[in-house]
Amino acid sequence: MRKFWMTTALALTMTAGIATAAENVEVLHWWTSGGEAAALDVLKKDLESKGISWTDMPVAGGGGTEAMTVLRARVTAGNAPTAVQMLGFDILDWAKEGALGNLDDVASKEGWDKVIPQALQKFSKYDGHWIAAPVNVHSTNWLWINKAALDKAGGKEPTSWEELIALLDNFKSQGITPIAAGGQPWQDATLFDAVVLSLGDDFYKKAFIDLDSATLGSDKMKEAFDRMTKLRTYVDDNFSGRDWNLASAMVIEGKAGVQFMGDWAKGEFIKAKKVPGQDFVCMRFPGTQGAVTFNSDQFAMFKVAEDKVPAQLQMASAIENPTFQSAFNVVKGSAPARTDVPNTAFDDCGKKAIADLADADKNGRLFGSMAHGHANPAAVKNAIYDVVTRQFNGQLSSEDAVKELVSAVEAAK
Ligand code: BGC
Repeated sequence: MRKFWMTTALALTMTAGIATAAENVEVLHWWTSGGEAAALDVLKKDLESKGISWTDMPVAGGGGTEAMTVLRARVTAGNAPTAVQMLGFDILDWAKEGALGNLDDVASKEGWDKVIPQALQKFSKYDGHWIAAPVNVHSTNWLWINKAALDKAGGKEPTSWEELIALLDNFKSQGITPIAAGGQPWQDATLFDAVVLSLGDDFYKKAFIDLDSATLGSDKMKEAFDRMTKLRTYVDDNFSGRDWNLASAMVIEGKAGVQFMGDWAKGEFIKAKKVPGQDFVCMRFPGTQGAVTFNSDQFAMFKVAEDKVPAQLQMASAIENPTFQSAFNVVKGSAPARTDVPNTAFDDCGKKAIADLADADKNGRLFGSMAHGHANPAAVKNAIYDVVTRQFNGQLSSEDAVKELVSAVEAAK
């Protein structure tokens, strides 16, 4: 009898031991700001409540450039994480290399095909198979304005380029930094998304989606760069290298008037207990109303040892759960990755994000963000970053930037 108990106890310990080892996910991501960490916590806790432990691999750097470099090293060393936060074309590149797992079973059991928009599925599937679980939809053509500063300027939200410039001048005369900018290539590129879109849907599409040389080299592109030059005059002297969340803090604290940034910025405002409409205003970049440049964070699931697969699939399933989608995206500042999640828990900016996405999709005005990897593969994206940053920092005239854009994109295609 004693022997029986001992054997059983040993067997139980072993099973428990194996289960614990397997019920773990190692997750590589770049969600390191206050708002991002709060959102990530929703996911961690959700998984922990299902008995899945979390090994964290944060790599700071918006847009994920640094995270992608670390990932490459990990995979080359034969040590891929379970799941990796990833954007658009990067996912397809890894799929092409055969590095990703297969989520078809869970996707078909849970009917993902019907509730995840096609614009996202384009990056969640490769060769007809699910390889990634989309967690949200962000968009880049937003303005985040300090409400008190806007009120002092008359309270009217700018709807044209001229009105935007008038508002920035007003902020200057209020003695605050008009634009809270973070001088990092991906942030310059995020602003460029909005500026190019403000010159027309067709212009954005031909330039960044079709990579049409005539459009990239056009007078209109010169105008886009001229607008960047003008906006550059409203940033403070210390903007170079500043992290995006520190730029958000400048608007939150009333030290700056506006930040041009994707709606992950809202995560910072919420974390600081700021209320939309009361403390800050969210609006689309003037001239882009009704159109959306989107990016979706997805968790690309890597091929891992067999005993790690059940936890990986559970993580994918947890991410697509509608209740989780609401809880997570309310904190993250994004819209849900599924079309059937009620908007009730979202604040006014979140409700607007959800409605804008649906309308833009319906009206053919939804475009992948160049800055956040949803318009082109990394090589082209990085070539554009380089030109945009050099021009924004005064190293290239608008004329030269246009020429360089054409040749850099051509070489990277
Ligand atoms: C991601 C966001 C993230 C932002 C800043 C974007 O590329 O999609 O989730 O918050 O970078 O880190």
